[in-house]
Amino acid sequence: MNHPRNPAHDLSEERYLLGKTLADQLGTTGAERSTFELLGKEWDLLPGAYAPRPGTGTEWYTTHVPYPRGGRFLEVGCGAGVTAVWAALNGCAHVTATDITESAVRNTALNAERHGVARRLRVLGGDVFEGLDAEDRFDVVFWNCSVIEAPEDFEFTRDVEWAIFDRGYAALGRYLATARGRLAPGGRALVTFNTLGDAGRLDQLAADAGVSLRRLAASPPRRLAGRDVTFKLLEILPRHP
Ligand SMILES: C[S@@+](CC[C@H](N)C(=O)[O-])C[C@H]1O[C@@H](n2cnc3c(N)ncnc32)[C@H](O)[C@@H]1O
Repeated sequence: MNHPRNPAHDLSEERYLLGKTLADQLGTTGAERSTFELLGKEWDLLPGAYAPRPGTGTEWYTTHVPYPRGGRFLEVGCGAGVTAVWAALNGCAHVTATDITESAVRNTALNAERHGVARRLRVLGGDVFEGLDAEDRFDVVFWNCSVIEAPEDFEFTRDVEWAIFDRGYAALGRYLATARGRLAPGGRALVTFNTLGDAGRLDQLAADAGVSLRRLAASPPRRLAGRDVTFKLLEILPRHP
């Protein structure tokens, strides 16, 4: 018997397969440390780490984040460290960068050294805010998050998959619910999303977290994995009753 098709299920399956393609495209394959160019600078890249290319969100977000001049900036999910280093080079007094993968933590530390900001850039490992001290507060908190929802039982086998997939959007849900609690007075909590992710689920996660999302900026469409993709920079605000 033919079962009726479930369009929502088909779409999430399509997103998941696209995520697999992206992981193959954006992961490094060699066993050697290498370099890449982005934003007019050269960056170190460790084997296995996510390699941000021109046209991926890294480039666009890094130049659109409202960095706190003279203030404290936290980047969750720092990857190779481009945004965190850029923040330290562009007016932030102190930068903290965290990532769940060890390769990203080491990669960000390398790039902080390469660009001469290691004394003002602290790199920590952990799940979302896990590596921070309880009292740490920031003027801007930012995550260029992993936008493709993976099944709850998805097993991460390569570090680059953490840059694409989020099991059941659990990490994003935790970030939305707790990011504002990490702010100094007057601080701003930011998150990114793009049109490869499930916007309906994002709205639901925000509602569940008791926050609303205000769009600060959106990119023109870019070609990524054979699709037109728009990058969005969003501010996390208290939800109005
Ligand atoms: C889309 S990538 C962005 C990487 C980098 N910020 C950039 O723009 O090139 C998402 C990053 O979040 C990290 N990540 C994924 N889940 C995480 C979690 N639960 N806690 C901390 N970092 C996480 C990934 O390892 C990856 O480095």
